[in-house]
Amino acid sequence: MTRGLTRHIVLIGMMGAGKTAIGSELARRLRVPFTDSDAEIEAAAAMSISEIFARDGEAFFRARESQVLGRLLAGAPGVISTGGGAWMSAGNRDMIGARGLSVWLNCAPELLWQRVRQRPTRPLLQTADPKGTLLRLLAERSPVYAQAGLEFLSQAGDSIEMSTTRLIAALQ
Ligand code: S3P
Repeated sequence: MTRGLTRHIVLIGMMGAGKTAIGSELARRLRVPFTDSDAEIEAAAAMSISEIFARDGEAFFRARESQVLGRLLAGAPGVISTGGGAWMSAGNRDMIGARGLSVWLNCAPELLWQRVRQRPTRPLLQTADPKGTLLRLLAERSPVYAQAGLEFLSQAGDSIEMSTTRLIAALQ
């Protein structure tokens, strides 16, 4: 596992599931590149995700997200962390399936909420009832996330290091 990654490991799942934190630790341990699709979109646009949503709308963001994913997947195999909605596109799922192993970082709803409420910047949660919105998105998306190649449950008491150790074992 630590040598010669032949395809990308692509982390998918809800906001707050720990995709970026676990993904960067996983890449460090596997000694492969780590990229975060949201960070790549922000760097290319020189704007935050919130600014892109506010200025250009969600459809524009989704088109950029697919472009960036295509570019990252064409590169040397590594760990890629995606935004929570990326896996909802059939085209993105096909691209990811062709070049990588998709891993659903699943997480208890209450834990997701505890994490995302600490960073209230996500544009999709700028609603009158952000927790209700988060839970609705989770319910809508879970059956689609469940189509990933591997499901990994991120547990409340686990540190990033512990989760990553468990994930590496699950990937063997
Ligand atoms: C989104 C999740 C965000 C970001 C954008 C949309 C979503 O990424 O891509 O705000 O649709 O769930 P994270 O999952 O990294 O928060």
